[in-house]
Amino acid sequence: MNFFENKLIMAPMVRFGTLPSRLTALDYGADLVFAEEIVDRLILKSKFVLNHKLKTIDFIVKENEFHKVDKNSNIVENIAYKHNFIAENNTVFRTPPLKENNKLIFQLGTRNIENAIKISQYLSGVNWKSEFNVPNDDDSSPYIISGIDLNMGCPKDYSLKAGIGSALLRSDTEIELACRILEALVKENRPKDIKTSCKIRVLPTLPDTLRLCQTLQKTGIDALTIHGRTPSEKKSDFSTPNRDHYINEISRLLNDSCTIIANGGSNCINKILDIDYFKAETGCNSIMLARSAMKNLSIFSTSMVTRDEVIRKYLKYALIYENEFINSKYAIQQMFYHDGKSDQFQKLLKAKNYREMCKIWKPDTELFIDIADDIYSDSFESHKNNIDVAKFDNVDGIIIMDLHYDYREWPNMQIDNNYRLQFNKFPNPKLALIHFCNILNIPQPSYYSISSPDNRTFKGIVDIKDLQFSTYKWEKSKKIAEQSSALCAIKYISKFLSL
Ligand SMILES: Cc1cc2nc3c(=O)[nH]c(=O)nc-3n(C[C@H](O)[C@H](O)[C@H](O)COP(=O)(O)O)c2cc1C
Repeated sequence: MNFFENKLIMAPMVRFGTLPSRLTALDYGADLVFAEEIVDRLILKSKFVLNHKLKTIDFIVKENEFHKVDKNSNIVENIAYKHNFIAENNTVFRTPPLKENNKLIFQLGTRNIENAIKISQYLSGVNWKSEFNVPNDDDSSPYIISGIDLNMGCPKDYSLKAGIGSALLRSDTEIELACRILEALVKENRPKDIKTSCKIRVLPTLPDTLRLCQTLQKTGIDALTIHGRTPSEKKSDFSTPNRDHYINEISRLLNDSCTIIANGGSNCINKILDIDYFKAETGCNSIMLARSAMKNLSIFSTSMVTRDEVIRKYLKYALIYENEFINSKYAIQQMFYHDGKSDQFQKLLKAKNYREMCKIWKPDTELFIDIADDIYSDSFESHKNNIDVAKFDNVDGIIIMDLHYDYREWPNMQIDNNYRLQFNKFPNPKLALIHFCNILNIPQPSYYSISSPDNRTFKGIVDIKDLQFSTYKWEKSKKIAEQSSALCAIKYISKFLSL
């Protein structure tokens, strides 16, 4: 039977699909887990480290590459690249091979054949068994991954501009390029029994989609995941219905030669029985879930548990595997989905470290608090003591800077690069930030403010493309607080662009 047959799979999800989510999903019955998409140059700029303490293989971005921006790439591509750092600090990818053995698929963002091959060789070259003293005759796979998946579905602007994700579906020439990447990967992976797959969105018509899938199947891939929406149907709520009938036709035509994995059904999947319905609609026996897994990672189980229980398990893995706090906080926030007003969610937003988070979910044992304390003192405190106020501190999940908006000094305050001139024409940081978002082609910023305990002073928080910015200083009015937070965002982005 094909490796991908009859599987319940956790989908690749940027920032959510890091190690604690994957392990939690596996504990609740997922058969396979996809890691979040990682772009080729990020993994090529990293070195792998055998982490003997955690028994993990870590890919760490080399220190001197940390803030380097490729001048030949466009701004948005660089922002996309930088986002990975913010989510994961300098650990790009972490896997405990003993736990994820035979269950982990690595998703790659690339449009370059040589890079794809290098990455396949790089990942399969890690000899984890000898390093962790696991005997070679043990049943486990010698490789840290079971497969490599090519992302051909991401419709985000930064992917399109970098020519990756669904940009590879844009024309026959692009599809041909994707096929050459897949053929090369199949050739490289197959002798090692590492699987090759790709993930697409459908094209606007069924005949075109069928032709596309046939072309992809001929490359020799082991599996093809189909999200039943087109690349232009990219509203974040996925309100357009998923084209289950396209998937059904494709699976009837191709399932004998490569496994078709159905995706896109989360709007209608809240429990395991709904998965059976999705299987029947799409004619597929392998199903991949993203948003319904994000809401409750126990969706893969025949007896689902409460969100609190899922979070407790997630926290356990986050602490044991020293997942970066910002990333864990982000992932738990996603689990609240449309429930952002609840008390727990508000407490979560305020949590500044694992200790505070553990207090909300009261883990069964003090052990977690102890581990949390270790991590807290290792990373947060030491980082804080060394903090240079001219730089930023992103440990709290919000990027905080020591800046204050004063209209008399605008725009000469700390905008230390050649973008400063452009700001002369804007009366204040908020208006300048709107302009900045327009040039970067990213959604407009949104603002909220919090008041100090005596209600007399405020901090503004601006949310821009999943990043939040604020100041150390409390301001006398909400208006100034928002302007100061916009100043931080501008400072951060302009500093980054000027590197
Ligand atoms: C937060 C989030 C992050 C995502 N990141 C990726 C990704 O890294 N790679 C990818 O191929 N798809 C990504 N997707 C798309 C999902 O894998 C999936 O195709 C889509 O959400 C539809 O499936 P669903 O109905 O089960 O949510 C992401 C989706 C979400 C919600």
